[in-house]
Amino acid sequence: MRKEQFICPYTVYDSIDELEPQDAELVRKAHEATHNSYAPYSKFHVGAAVRMANGEIVTGNNIENAAYPSGLCAERVALFAAQAQYPGMAVETLAVVAHSETKLIVEPAAPCGACRQVMVEVEQISKRPLRVICQGETGPIMVFDGIESLVPFVFRNTLL
Ligand code: THU
Repeated sequence: MRKEQFICPYTVYDSIDELEPQDAELVRKAHEATHNSYAPYSKFHVGAAVRMANGEIVTGNNIENAAYPSGLCAERVALFAAQAQYPGMAVETLAVVAHSETKLIVEPAAPCGACRQVMVEVEQISKRPLRVICQGETGPIMVFDGIESLVPFVFRNTLL
């Protein structure tokens, strides 16, 4: 037997001003999108912004429901809206941020497992690494240069 480990590379930036201008714009749009969030139950407002291959930005935010599982995360709202508005177009980068009504979020927002699984397939059909940028309301920014850094031992459809 042997022990192995999964390496999960990412880059940390201390502030939005350290990012490339295109990434900084995307993170700002994600922060703006938190204001559209409908989160009366969790009071946790998530914003996402995706940059498409043609440079267009599509945003999304979490939308909750009294029947809790019927709600949807910001990342999937943004990615599905992007796919609906630009079918077949590659997605380059997704930024996700989170604001809470109950505390200042200073740790980067980590996408949930279901959103990561959707990102896997978006990356696969985009035929390029999907960059993912995460921030809290403030604080450090993590940049992942592809979904494999976020999803070890990924499940994907090998027929695609
Ligand atoms: N949420 C997201 O929008 N994205 C995530 O990756 C994790 C969680 C939302 C779902 C729910 O509306 C609220 O945050 C609390 O879980």
